[in-house]
Amino acid sequence: MFAITAARIDKKNPLSGLEAGERPDPAPPEGWTTVQVKAAALNHHDLWSLRGVGLPEERLPMVLGCDAAGLDEEGNEVIVHAVIGDPDAGGGDETRDPRRSLLSEVHPGTLAEKVAVPRRNLVSKPAELSFEEAACLPTAWLTAYRMLFARAGLEPGSAVLVQGAGGGVSSAIIRMAAAVGHRVYATSRDAGKRERAMRLGAYGAVEPGDRLPEKVDAVFDSVGEATWGHSLRSLRPGGRIITCGATSGDAPAAELNRVFFLQLSVVGSTMGSRDELRRLAEFCARTGVRPEIDRVLPLARAEEGFAAMAEGEQFGKIVFQV
Ligand SMILES: NC(=O)c1ccc[n+]([C@@H]2O[C@H](COP(=O)([O-])OP(=O)(O)OC[C@H]3O[C@@H](n4cnc5c(N)ncnc54)[C@H](OP(=O)(O)O)[C@@H]3O)[C@@H](O)[C@H]2O)c1
Repeated sequence: MFAITAARIDKKNPLSGLEAGERPDPAPPEGWTTVQVKAAALNHHDLWSLRGVGLPEERLPMVLGCDAAGLDEEGNEVIVHAVIGDPDAGGGDETRDPRRSLLSEVHPGTLAEKVAVPRRNLVSKPAELSFEEAACLPTAWLTAYRMLFARAGLEPGSAVLVQGAGGGVSSAIIRMAAAVGHRVYATSRDAGKRERAMRLGAYGAVEPGDRLPEKVDAVFDSVGEATWGHSLRSLRPGGRIITCGATSGDAPAAELNRVFFLQLSVVGSTMGSRDELRRLAEFCARTGVRPEIDRVLPLARAEEGFAAMAEGEQFGKIVFQV
């Protein structure tokens, strides 16, 4: 089968390790099944993998990709849940299984014509969503869904800040938070992306670090070092930061004085369960909320998508048709 793999690790020049070509078809073990991939989406995770984060040299070559929508062995339209883990080992939540991994970390990923996954990882694709839209849900959108609906503890009509509007996770939070009636502020380094955030439903969009017109109840931060101080400063007393990533660095100043004096909470969040993925797909089908897709490319041109993400050019999701 045709696939996009990480062939080498290069921290400084991650794209140099990317290879496109033929790989053996998956050989699913007992209890697993093979999905024919119709569309797959790119995540920052794929760039981290090429830098060796979560992917040691001894597992190379590794087919990249966490997100896919396609057809199961009976021809049903399905979305693939990217978390390979045992829900029972995580108290009913596979993301808390201490041995869990994401597709492309231990098992070959989704940037391929076929992907093998445990049968329980398949969720029905609602007919209302295209394969390209459905392929955006399993990683960035699922992470955004859990952060917003399970981890933020928001009252209806809250004020929130989303850092780095152009990202897959951030654009998803802006869209969903606006859809359920929160007052959403967003930051982006790029004026065009700030404008697009407004079109997604943001109430205000500012440059990173700019003072907001009001203090917010929650900040969604996947950017890390570059935005952390601003995230802390933007919260009302008792507010909450929900963090899922650290694209710009993972060691900002903790500013403990601000955290304890204003009684702030810092809440981590990672991916979501298969049940949350099913509920997210239904949410999109029922509300008309759809992932913001930056561009769709044939899988053979995946390198263009990787380059755009490495340069931070995209607004929303980069999707590959298989
Ligand atoms: N824990 C989990 O389960 C989980 C799940 C998904 C993602 N993540 C992590 O979350 C992060 C975002 O993922 P993604 O797929 O959404 O990535 P992405 O689409 O590449 O988005 C990254 C965004 O971060 C912003 N950014 C990057 N560098 C910045 C800087 N120096 N200053 C200000 N903003 C900067 C950019 O916003 P602007 O261009 O608009 O300024 C960019 O759009 C990644 O680190 C990823 O690994 C974690």
